[in-house]
Amino acid sequence: MRVNVTVNGVQREADDVWPGESLLYVLRERLGLPGSKNACEQGECGSCTVYLDDVPVCSCLVAAGQAEGREVRTVEGLASDELHPVQQAFVDKGAVQCGFCTPGLIVAAHDLLERTAEPTDAEIREALAGNLCRCTGYEKIMDAVRAAAAKKAGVV
Ligand code: FES
Ligand code: FES
Repeated sequence: MRVNVTVNGVQREADDVWPGESLLYVLRERLGLPGSKNACEQGECGSCTVYLDDVPVCSCLVAAGQAEGREVRTVEGLASDELHPVQQAFVDKGAVQCGFCTPGLIVAAHDLLERTAEPTDAEIREALAGNLCRCTGYEKIMDAVRAAAAKKAGVV
C-alpha cells in the first residue's frame, strides 16, 4: 500500500508498504530518516520516539498505515540551520555515548520543555522515564535537560 504522511513539514509518500510495517521502519528504511533508532522494537526503550500530530509516540509501535494523512516530526525535524537548543545541550553536556537512546531522549525532553518551562528534577525524570539509556547513568542527560530548560527560560 502507499502511505502519505507529512514528515518534518514535507509531504512524503512511501510505496509498497506492508500493512504490518511500523512507522519507524518507513521513516528509516523508506524515507531516509535514520535519526529515530530501532533498539527494542517493543515499545520498551523510547529510542524510536517521534511526534505524531504533536504527541510523542514510540514509532516502532505505530503501524505505518496509522500515520496516513498525519504529521510526523522526527529528531531531524527539530533542528533548523543549527541544532535545536535541546540537541546542543546534549552535545555540550556530554550526554551522548553510543547515541542509541539520544534521539528519543531529545524528543522527550523537547516535549517536556514545550509543556513545562522550568521543570523540576522530578518532572524531568518522569518525562524521560520511558527512555532507557544503557551508557550514561543519566546524570549527564539530566544536566543537558536542565541546561536546555535554563536557556529556554533565559536564565543563562
Ligand atoms: S525501538 Fe521503539 S520503544 Fe524501543
Ligand atoms: S548513550 Fe548509549 S544507550 Fe544512551
